[in-house]
Amino acid sequence: MPKLTVVTREGQESTIDVESGLTVMEAIRDNGFDELLALCGGCCSCATCHVHVDPEHFGKLAGISEDEDDLLESTDHRTEYSRLSCQIPFDDALDGLKVTIAPED
Ligand code: FES
Repeated sequence: MPKLTVVTREGQESTIDVESGLTVMEAIRDNGFDELLALCGGCCSCATCHVHVDPEHFGKLAGISEDEDDLLESTDHRTEYSRLSCQIPFDDALDGLKVTIAPED
């Protein structure tokens, strides 16, 4: 199973196995990281699933949609490596991906 490394806001790093078909947000939420609120459930309308992707892996991700880009623009902690984790489908090609949960707005 491909692996995802999640870094919490406090800097604690954990590596989890991710079932295929899940998004990064679902994988994080299902593994008990409750600081990732994901309030809209993955509909790309809340931005509470904001993560910073490790620069080394950022280029592996599919492009960002206009909706995601607009929502990220409304957050206070956007960086060039920001993504909404509900908009990242996880698969074998992303094995080893590392994301940090962004600070709360
Ligand atoms: S869960 Fe709401 S935008 Fe990702």
